[in-house]
Order: sequence, then structure tokens, then C-alpha cells
Amino acid sequence: MKILVTGAAGFIGSYVSHSLLGMGHEVTGIDCLNDYYDPALKVARLDSLRPLQGFEFIEMDLNEINSRKSELGEFEIIIHLAAQAGVRYSIQNPFAYADSNLSGHLNVLEFARGHARSPLVIYASSSSVYGNNSTPPYKETEFVNKPVSLYAATKIAAEAMSYSYASLYGLRQIGLRFFTVYGPWGRPDMAYWGFSEAILSGKPIKVFNNGKLRRDFTYIDDIVDGITRIATRGAHFETVPHKIYNIGNNNPVELMTFIETLETALGKKAIKEFLPMQKGDVFETCADITAISDDYGFKPTTDIKTGLQNFADWFLGWREV
Ligand SMILES: NC(=O)c1ccc[n+]([C@@H]2O[C@H](COP(=O)([O-])OP(=O)(O)OC[C@H]3O[C@@H](n4cnc5c(N)ncnc54)[C@H](O)[C@@H]3O)[C@@H](O)[C@H]2O)c1
Repeated sequence: MKILVTGAAGFIGSYVSHSLLGMGHEVTGIDCLNDYYDPALKVARLDSLRPLQGFEFIEMDLNEINSRKSELGEFEIIIHLAAQAGVRYSIQNPFAYADSNLSGHLNVLEFARGHARSPLVIYASSSSVYGNNSTPPYKETEFVNKPVSLYAATKIAAEAMSYSYASLYGLRQIGLRFFTVYGPWGRPDMAYWGFSEAILSGKPIKVFNNGKLRRDFTYIDDIVDGITRIATRGAHFETVPHKIYNIGNNNPVELMTFIETLETALGKKAIKEFLPMQKGDVFETCADITAISDDYGFKPTTDIKTGLQNFADWFLGWREV
């Protein structure tokens, strides 16, 4: 199949591209390579993709996708992962979220709508849409209208835009609510990376809400398995062709357990600075994954100990480069 991956230089996009190319699909990756975090990491991820047969990369902003569509052609599947990620950054840079997650998302929908044959669009949403009012484990059927960050607000808005395109134009779409994805080649803005950097350089780590937080950490290979299952098996819709699935581990870990596991993986103890709850954060995330398990046989297999050890082994090497 011919597949477009947006955000191909990003953490999840680069893994998904690798996996699809390994299955023999053709992948066109786009990314604007912005400097939200060190672009050298994005370039390094791309360097591992460029030599692979069937891969093409075009540096492009989502907001250019329609004006430059002749460079892209048509696709059977569009995996839309490019976004302005991160909860905390949305406090200082709100307009980056409007550009990438609202206008950028709309541009992808318009691009897909213009295809002669309706492609399946698989797009990234987030567990953050559940906010602090939902009761874990979160189900896709919950009403989500109380985001506690602008990032979450843009993800809810993107889901709503997608639904409207499915309803108006029959554009087939699946939205995936990812739950804290981690692993080698991960994101420097995420806690596991920041903690690792601080632990190894003997600096204190900030433990918010005095450690009383729980997160449903999902290992990258499990996420990729879920995405590729959908891409290769396709989707069946009953009415409006739009579905949302949680994709998580369904096994939340206490922050303190997470820190201890990371300390073991890195072979060094953390200096902990206990702080109150941060604005925009949620207390607990936990995915109910019944729907994606029933429809696609999705079953995460990587526990936190194995996943963090894989990350730590990679991270120690990456720091030396
Ligand atoms: N990693 C997680 O834990 C997690 C959790 C929930 C949701 N998500 C979502 O999954 C998707 C992928 O996340 P990730 O962790 O790989 O993030 P990432 O930041 O590593 O990857 C996103 C990529 O999109 C690119 N990008 C951003 N704005 C763009 C634009 N306007 N035009 C073109 N490219 C643009 C960035 O340069 C980056 O390479 C995002 O939509 C994110 O919101 C991720």
C-alpha cells in the first residue's frame, strides 16, 4: 500500500514508518522538523529511515499540504501523527497548538477529502482529552468536554473536526487516544527522559503532586503494533465512518514505582524534590482497551521494567554521541 505518515521524524511516526516499510509498504513521510525539542534527534531518526527501500521524505508543514499536494500524490492510508505535543509547553506557546493541531489537522482532512478514492485516515489523539473528571479506566464512550490543558482542548477539537468530515463527506477515520508512550528514541520533553538526564547528571528530579500520580505507560512497540494492525486490516464502520479507540497499556504505574524502576534501569539513585500538583496535569490515566482488543486483537505485551530498561540502554548510548 501507499501510505502517508505525517510527523515521520517524530518519535511515534519514525517507528510506524519503520514497521510499515518492513512489511513492504511504500511510505511517504512529511515533517516540518520544528525545534520544539532538539531537531538533531529528528534528523537522526530520519537518517535511519532514508536508506530503506520504499521510503521518501518531504520536509513540509501540515499547513502546506494542500498548496503542495502535487508533490505528494494519493494514498490508500494516511497516518496523521504530526502535532504540537506536550501539555506544559501549551502554557507558554498556545498558538503553536492552534497552528499544528487545529489548522494543521484541518489541512490533513481537506487533503484526504480531495483524494479520488477515500483513504483511511488514522490520526493521533490523546488520553489528555479525559481531563480530571473521568473515572479510570477511561472508556471511549465518555463525554469529553472538560480539558485541563490547551493541548487537550486542541485534541478534542481535532476529534470533533474529524467527526464532522466523516459525517459530511464520508471521510473514513480512526482516532487513537495514546496513553503516555515511551521507549528508545523517545521525546526529550517527557518525564522519563528528563528524569533520566537529571539522575545521570546528579541533579534533582521534580516529583509533582508528591509522587501521587499514576500513568498508563505504553511501550512504543505496543503502540506501533496497534497502529499497524488498523492500517493493514482496515476499518468497518456502521454509520458515520469515524471511530475512536484508546490505545494504552491498561495497567497504570505509580510515579514512585516508575522512578524506582528507572533508577534500577540506569543503575543510579535519583535526588527527589517533592512538589505540589502542576497546572494542566491529570492525577491518573488508565485506558480501557476493550474496544481495540475486540476489534483488532490489540494486546500490549511490554511491562514497565522491560520497557524502561530498553529505554535506559538506548539513552546511555545516545548521551555519548
Ligand atoms: N508520545 C506520547 O506519549 C503521546 C501521547 C498522546 C498523544 N500523542 C500524539 O501522538 C502524535 C505523535 O507524538 P510523538 O510523541 O511522536 O511526538 P513528536 O513531537 O516526537 O512527533 C511529532 C512530529 O510532528 C512534527 N510536527 C509538529 N507540527 C508540525 C506541523 N505543523 N507540520 C509538520 N510537522 C509537524 C514535529 O516536528 C515532530 O517531528 C502527536 O499527535 C501527539 O500529540 C503522543
